[in-house]
This record gives sequence, structure tokens and C-alpha cells, in this order.
Amino acid sequence: MSKTNILLLPGDGVGPEIMQEATKVINLLNDLELCDITYNSADIGGIAIDNHGNPFPEETAKKCLESDCILLGAVGTKKHENNENNLKPESGLLALRKSLDLYINVRPIFLFNSLIDSSSLKPELLKNLDIVIIRELVGDVYFGEPRGFKGESGNKIGYNTMSYSTNEVKRIAEYAFDLASKRSSKVTSVDKANVLEASQVWRETVEKIKSTNYTDIELSHMYVDNAAMQLVKDPNQFDVILTGNIFGDILSDEASMLTGSIGMLPSASLSSSSGVYEPIHGSAPDIAGKGIVNPIAMILSVAMMFEYSLNNQNVSSIIKESINSVLNSGYRTKDISLSSEYVDTSKMGDAIVQEIKNNV
Ligand code: IPM
Ligand code: MN
Repeated sequence: MSKTNILLLPGDGVGPEIMQEATKVINLLNDLELCDITYNSADIGGIAIDNHGNPFPEETAKKCLESDCILLGAVGTKKHENNENNLKPESGLLALRKSLDLYINVRPIFLFNSLIDSSSLKPELLKNLDIVIIRELVGDVYFGEPRGFKGESGNKIGYNTMSYSTNEVKRIAEYAFDLASKRSSKVTSVDKANVLEASQVWRETVEKIKSTNYTDIELSHMYVDNAAMQLVKDPNQFDVILTGNIFGDILSDEASMLTGSIGMLPSASLSSSSGVYEPIHGSAPDIAGKGIVNPIAMILSVAMMFEYSLNNQNVSSIIKESINSVLNSGYRTKDISLSSEYVDTSKMGDAIVQEIKNNV
């Protein structure tokens, strides 16, 4: 069996708590000889500012390059939230994405059937929910130049630049179309082309790629405001949603609520040669240290790592099916519980580990 060397970046807030549960799962899979994973860890975000004066230290960058792929918890702390931009925990995550050119962010939106009542939407809207958001991750207003502050005191101006180039759009659109070819062949590209030049280049490029190389794909375009509305009106009209960095950030948080809780959703950030796997939720400082965070998004991120970086669909399915069984048996963390009864983070992790043992 080939050896895999992964890097753990637990980060801040609830990050270390969910990473702990992810390592329980990985240790078990090693013991069961379903994989041969060794891991190393490093600091990112607020903890890295405290320990190294930098949210993405050199040492972490080096370890990222040396590992086969990366598992990340979350970044963000109250303590550093008023720091200048390059000393905010979030810029550590953005620097990681940029340095590895992780331009593809895959955010699957699916519902475990037993959680259908945990969603705030009517159950009949959610049957067989299965959407994938493909979010461009290293461009857009997140990274556009110029940016900064200007103006005089009393009337400060903060400004950013939204931009997309043909080349940036082309590569993410190709990824989305390739994925759609393996699913229902339906892509909804989301932009704001009625107002923004960046979106006009986006739309033109997506259209061109489709008509040149992907004529079998059923492509439609939707303005982002309408897409936000349609997602809660009739989510099943979507299959693959292709969108830019900022719109994808917002729409994926919205879509997560279709599945019952933001604590349920994993993501993969990919380049042609590396992958970072992390929950879509943040560091949740309000519940950090209380042992109540839902570890499922993190454990599903491990499943995505097996699928995308380790090419091991079998282990990925075992993890997902075990989570499904644990939910079917009634285990709930606080965020997905409909009553005042729930299990803590560690018990949920243990239940999943036990179920994997039963399934293998
Ligand atoms: C996400 C997060 C990040 C983002 C933050 C933490 C910088 O919200 O991964 O969705 O905005 O991309
Ligand atoms: Mn987000």
C-alpha cells in the first residue's frame, strides 16, 4: 500500500476539536490497513500569529509543499479580528490557497435523509437534494488589485477590485463542465453580468468554453441575486453551480442550511497537483472549547480527501455510509438536534469510528 503523508492544520476556535475527531478516523483506517497515512502538523491563522508572528509562516508553507495533501480545521479569532489585513487569521488561509494555486473549490450540498427535519425548509423541497457548488477560489474581489484605504480622516474610503480574466474563468469552467459530464450534464453559472464587467468576462468565457468543447452540457446563466432566491425556492432545479469567489462564498453558506446545519458540509480546494480539505464552516469562537461542535463536516472532508487526493472511493464511501448510519441511529450534535438532547463532539466522533469498525 502506498504511503501518504498528510499535513494537519487545525487552526483556531473549534478547529483543533474537530481535527481531533478526524485523526481518530484516520488512525482507525490505518489500523484496519485500509490506508497507510502518516501525519505532521503545523500552525495557521491566529495560533500562527501568536507562535510565529505570521498567519501563514514559512515553516507551514514548507510543510504544505512537502505533504501529499492537507486537512484544515478553521481559522479566525476574536483576539486578532481588528489586526491589519495581513495579520488577520483569515489572510493565512487566503495565502495558503494562493500559494498552492487552489483555484477549484468543490462544495457538495447533500442531505442525509434522517436530517430532513433539521432543515429550516419544507421537507418536500429537499428530497434527493444533491448540488455541487464549484467556486473559483484564488481570484475575484478577494485578491483583486488595487485595494486599500484612502480618503481623509472623517471620511475614510475602503476599496477593493473585482476582476476576472479569460484564463482564470476558463480553467474553473472546464472543471465544472467535466464534473457535470459525470453527473446530470447541467451547469448553472452564477454572476452579476447585468452590472459588473468582471461578470461580463465571466459569462462570455463560460459561454465560449461550452460552445467550443462542451456542446452536450445544458448551460444556463443566472444573476446571483436570483440564484440566492432560487436556492431556497426550489433547490432541486440545480445540479452543478459554477461561480466566482465571493458569490460562491455567500451561496455556499446559504445552501448549507438546506442540509440542516453548516456543521455538516465539507469542501475540497484543489489545484492540478494538491488538495486542501476543510469544512465550509468557520472557527465558531462562540462555541469553541465547549465540546459541542459538530465534527461531521471535518470527517466528511476526510472522505473527500480519500476521493479526490488518494483516489480511494471505497474508503470515502465507507466513511460517508458510517456517518449516515450513525445519524440514522439517532446520534445528534447540538446543531442538528431537534430536542434538548445531544451528544458532544467526541461522542459523535467515537460513534462514527465504531460504525466504521462495524462496516468493514
Ligand atoms: C470560507 C471562509 C473563508 C472565505 C474565510 C475564512 C476567509 O468563509 O472558506 O468560505 O471567505 O473564503
Ligand atoms: Mn465562507
